[in-house]
Amino acid sequence: MNRNEFLKNFGFGTVALIAGESLLSSCMGGMDMGESVAPIVSDGEFINALRIPETISGTSTLIAQSVQDELLTGKRVGVQSYRNGILGPTFRVQKGSIVNIAFQNKMAEHSNVHWHGLVVPANMDGHPERMIMPNESFNFQFPINQQAGISWYHPHIHKLTGKQVMQGLAGLFIVESPEEKALNLPSGNYEIPLIIQDKRLNTDGSIKYNPTMMEVMSGYMGETVLVNGTTKPYLNVATRFYRFRVLNGSSARIYNLAMSNKTDFYVIGSDGGILPQPEKVKNLMLSSGERTDILIDFSTMKIGEQVYLTSETFSTMGTSQGADSFKIIDFIVKNQESDTFKMPTSLIPVAKITGSTKTRTFALTGDMMNMNGGMHKINGKVYDGNRIDETVSLGATETWEFDNSTGDEAHPMHIHGVEFQVVSRSGGRNVIFPQEKGWKDTVLVAPKEKVQVIMKFRQQGKFVFHCHNLEHGDDGMMLNFEVK
Ligand code: C2O
Ligand code: CU
Ligand code: CU
Repeated sequence: MNRNEFLKNFGFGTVALIAGESLLSSCMGGMDMGESVAPIVSDGEFINALRIPETISGTSTLIAQSVQDELLTGKRVGVQSYRNGILGPTFRVQKGSIVNIAFQNKMAEHSNVHWHGLVVPANMDGHPERMIMPNESFNFQFPINQQAGISWYHPHIHKLTGKQVMQGLAGLFIVESPEEKALNLPSGNYEIPLIIQDKRLNTDGSIKYNPTMMEVMSGYMGETVLVNGTTKPYLNVATRFYRFRVLNGSSARIYNLAMSNKTDFYVIGSDGGILPQPEKVKNLMLSSGERTDILIDFSTMKIGEQVYLTSETFSTMGTSQGADSFKIIDFIVKNQESDTFKMPTSLIPVAKITGSTKTRTFALTGDMMNMNGGMHKINGKVYDGNRIDETVSLGATETWEFDNSTGDEAHPMHIHGVEFQVVSRSGGRNVIFPQEKGWKDTVLVAPKEKVQVIMKFRQQGKFVFHCHNLEHGDDGMMLNFEVK
């Protein structure tokens, strides 16, 4: 939502804009409106070798702490972290195993860990009400009962989620399986995580998270795009296929991924699983919280050539998104290598969920009259930790419809405790996209769209569902449901 739309929605007609402006500032008590969208800084050489988070097993220690890191060369600053520098390690865990993660909070503020995409018992899910206070620890123990896919983890403290994720608390959690291994996808040095985030950096190189009123509405967008915590990243590649595990770990920014040379790439997985077959695409829209598993073929390139993964402009997500096109990472072809990988024609079948016994609809709205937070609502409600908004029977299969037909902002809607499949999208873009043809837990609901998802509830207890634009979520665009 841009400034003019804000003013209109706040109840001022276009003619009254000037008068509205001063009235608005007075009723907001001098609060800084700020600007909603800053242009991306994406000029200059991509000079920093991509950082690769270390890989750890499901039996590990995870420590949230404040550490020093260098996001801009030569400028050491404080960040929040699950390891030595920004972000966290990548878990690699086998389907069917039991994880045992000793978490310690060594930060000065409360936190917790949500395993986004993993279907875990409610008391392990990092519900916003379950806080882990400074100097406390918590043992996360749960079985991995789901197919191979890309999950991730991050704090989930109501009103602090955006800040803690932006300050550096996030990491990947990869589930592997024998079925997936049998596909012989590129692995080892040819399988690379890409955690894409935008941040606002102060001139001293520190992260600035201080959303204005406008940014609570549009979502917080930074001018610097980082991959795995690396600014201006490059990766040396060989002339062969690579597999990239891509997470949009940004607060609000939606990326329209494309190769700078306009070549095709292949989507092989959605958030939580491998697709039935590879899908060849030129563009892929990824909203905050979503993951995609992609293959890129560098085999026809020559030594010394380079190609960027970029984000192209788009106009389908409201006025606060998609204005910029920019580079994300530079791939530089360094080695000639022969590649034995052949693109399979089919991957892993995804059994369609059927037999829905109930449909629930959720109206997504932005209400600009409430200046003290709670501007974004689901079914007219703002998050209340003590209220159960929906009650679901354990084992039930249901269809949930997210209705953004009156909205003018994009909402990536995420449901905890389940994996869903996208059934339909009507209005707006009107299609189910390649990266949505498998297991999902977060789905982008653009302005004018109604999106239906189907899922089976197999975990008992209290969970949340919310918009994964983290400012919208922290603003209260989140409800509780209880499975019993
Ligand atoms: Cu990734 Cu409830 O969040
Ligand atoms: Cu989640
Ligand atoms: Cu939203």
